[in-house]
Amino acid sequence: MTPTRQEAEKLLYEYTESESLRQHGHQVEVVMEHFAKLNNEDPDFWGTVGLLHDLDYEKYPDQHCIKVREILEERDYPEEMIHAIQSHGYGMCCDVKPESKMEKILYTIDELTGIINAACLLRPSKSVLDLKLKSLKKKYKDKKFAGGCDREIIENGLSQLDYDKDELMQLTIDGLQAQAERAGLKGNIDQDV
Ligand SMILES: [Fe+2]
Ligand SMILES: [Fe+2]
Repeated sequence: MTPTRQEAEKLLYEYTESESLRQHGHQVEVVMEHFAKLNNEDPDFWGTVGLLHDLDYEKYPDQHCIKVREILEERDYPEEMIHAIQSHGYGMCCDVKPESKMEKILYTIDELTGIINAACLLRPSKSVLDLKLKSLKKKYKDKKFAGGCDREIIENGLSQLDYDKDELMQLTIDGLQAQAERAGLKGNIDQDV
């Protein structure tokens, strides 16, 4: 059965103690919700896939994207959700290929969200609300910045989508800005800018 958002969040917290990893889950969740709306798809479903994509990472780092199948099958989660979650590790930790649009977007925005998070934390505002595309592009080009976030994966994902790079970056920023509080990226800005 398809879990409610609350059930999925409870499960994530059960498996993930790290505050930054929980926050990463929420960031990918809100970005996936945003892209679902733009594609006339179900934001709850896409959001839950985003929220749970790194579910097995903290407890089973060596079986990332593998163990998650067992955890979710036990709970009767839909196959579509399990397949999508596994596929974000394609070529890195599993051989489940991103096939649907949802899967390709997840694969592409996962690392990008990490770069945006790092960029926000460096800002005086500590916020995504005043982050501009131009500033993100500069950080993206600097391979030493957030070096753990693999640009090659993003480029590879982009080549399978209809978005160009600027567009994808702007839409990802938009998704985080729309739910800055939930994404933990409101920083010290009180009102939306
Ligand atoms: Fe992952
Ligand atoms: Fe991730």
